[in-house]
Amino acid sequence: MKKLIIGNFKMNTKPSEMKAYAMSLATKTTESKNEIIVCPPYTSIAIAKQFLDGSNVTLGAQNVCDVEAGKCTGEISASMLKDAGVEYVIVGHSERRSKFKETDRLVNKKIKTALASGLKVIVCLGEDLVERQNKHANAVVKKQLDEALKGIYENELESVVIAYEPIWAIGTGKNATVKDVQSMTNFIRREISDLYSEKAGQGINVVYGGSVTISNYKKLISIPSVSGALIGGACLDVDNFAMMCRENF
Ligand code: PGA
Repeated sequence: MKKLIIGNFKMNTKPSEMKAYAMSLATKTTESKNEIIVCPPYTSIAIAKQFLDGSNVTLGAQNVCDVEAGKCTGEISASMLKDAGVEYVIVGHSERRSKFKETDRLVNKKIKTALASGLKVIVCLGEDLVERQNKHANAVVKKQLDEALKGIYENELESVVIAYEPIWAIGTGKNATVKDVQSMTNFIRREISDLYSEKAGQGINVVYGGSVTISNYKKLISIPSVSGALIGGACLDVDNFAMMCRENF
């Protein structure tokens, strides 16, 4: 089954390192049946584009400004990303929510701005450890999801990927169990069915992220309610990432 394999480089891979990575990933994934998306830092997007053109790999970005125009020193607009050859953008990553104080409302604005420019969005949601221990994970994810999708129409959902990323699993080496991922991704689908329709809940792409590695990716990505994975640390090793991209799930 075709899955989405998404690499989130975070603040890694300089322009001088991008060419070798892109060339290597392009050649190692020619036979892949999956949809592969790499999200390098802004400064490496142009080089990635140059060396991924004509390959099976699509380009994503890690962030976008919530407005399309204005005096916004240091920001990058959705149409700039589109013009640079980017097709996807990650929105609402937990690192941006915590370190850069991004709220659900801002995440919703970013999603609308990105969709209006023709970008697809990868919307990150997930609870922290205390919330999980207190059995509030579903409520937290439901709130984030409801707020993120406010004002988004059902026909726009084909451009929306939901990434369930429990915060306690990101970069910690502690991935969620198959049971937890199964239960939360099904919960997200049910919630989308309630918000829109049964068809929307079944059809939306819901990926898992959080310490996905070469040793656990098969069992996590093979879960039927999981559409793929958002992979941070483990995407930086091009051989391992390419191997995950080539898998037949
Ligand atoms: P990780 O990061 O795979 O390094 O845990 C995932 C993410 O932050 O998207």
